[in-house]
Amino acid sequence: MTSARTPNRLGMADYRTPPIKRQWYVAGLREDFNEELDEIVIMNRSLVRYRTTAGEPVLMQNRCPHRSFPMSESIREGDNIRCRYHGATFDSDGNFVNVPSQDMCPRGGLRKYAVKEYGPFVWVWMADEAPDESKLHHLPFTEGDWDLIIGRMDVPGNIMFMAENLCDLTHIPYLHEHTLGYPPEFAREDLDIREIDDGLEYERTITGHYFHKTALYSPHTSDSIGAHDYHMSSIGYFKSTALNYSYISLTIDPEAAAADPNVQQDYSFIISHYLTPETDKTTHYYWLLARNYDLKRPDIDELLENNLTQAFVEDMETTKLLQDMMDKDQHECRETIFAGDRQSVMMRRIVQRLADREAADGATI
Ligand code: FES
Ligand SMILES: [Fe+2]
Repeated sequence: MTSARTPNRLGMADYRTPPIKRQWYVAGLREDFNEELDEIVIMNRSLVRYRTTAGEPVLMQNRCPHRSFPMSESIREGDNIRCRYHGATFDSDGNFVNVPSQDMCPRGGLRKYAVKEYGPFVWVWMADEAPDESKLHHLPFTEGDWDLIIGRMDVPGNIMFMAENLCDLTHIPYLHEHTLGYPPEFAREDLDIREIDDGLEYERTITGHYFHKTALYSPHTSDSIGAHDYHMSSIGYFKSTALNYSYISLTIDPEAAAADPNVQQDYSFIISHYLTPETDKTTHYYWLLARNYDLKRPDIDELLENNLTQAFVEDMETTKLLQDMMDKDQHECRETIFAGDRQSVMMRRIVQRLADREAADGATI
């Protein structure tokens, strides 16, 4: 890892900044923690994940402390794991419980990481110090009546490329011109940005009558909404490099909605994104769409999932091109800042501040 202090003159974190340690990251979906022993790499650490017979998710060091054989390739015995190389056995707290070639168990064992199940995910706290539960951010779709679609992708680039992409609304009409379908004026709508608790809130009201054409509505719903005037507002949240979401609400005038059996008054969706550093150059990415319209419609789940996947593949391809560029082109190139970069710049300054703080007080994983 490189130093937390980068040569960037604006104090903005970038792909060279070490990942923030004192925060919760998604370590998988709940169902990824099951009876199987499964490897996941987080922050350059090979980890093994499984679920005990009592239902507790476990995330531990995957590398046997004897000669580095992977636990994920070993044998589960009840809640214990027996290493397949020389047969040492560990319990679900990572302690040695048996070494066949000797009577006594050595000290040490497998490091266990603190995890927490919340929403559809299992979250991990990688930092050495005790986990801070107050840093587990609230997910608004865990309350209320929402239909959920979840997707997962492997990002071929550093976490900061994606963290910035998610704050950046100005790429949407261009990179996603043929998938999300927003016109150029989307990139110029006014934003009201607030910094709160090492995070950001950025709010906007869309004034043009185009938002119903997004790929986040089915053609039928889009037509129904488009027949009316509506008010559309969106609040984006950068909560940490691990979590970004936007709450979008489109409301139709109550009288018009009451008179038209084809519409409901409120069409809201929450699109949330979860990033976890895998290595310095790869990132685990989960996205989740929660919507309050077209409920219990598996056909529309499939349609929206396809639409979003196509758009997010564009972000993945971009991230790869950016990472490849940084790998190939080693000269220091000052970034030009555009007017629409305000929230990205603020986000990167917050991350740099956190990284500097962690470097100053020696945070470790
Ligand atoms: S490598 Fe695991 S017991 Fe030897
Ligand atoms: Fe994007």
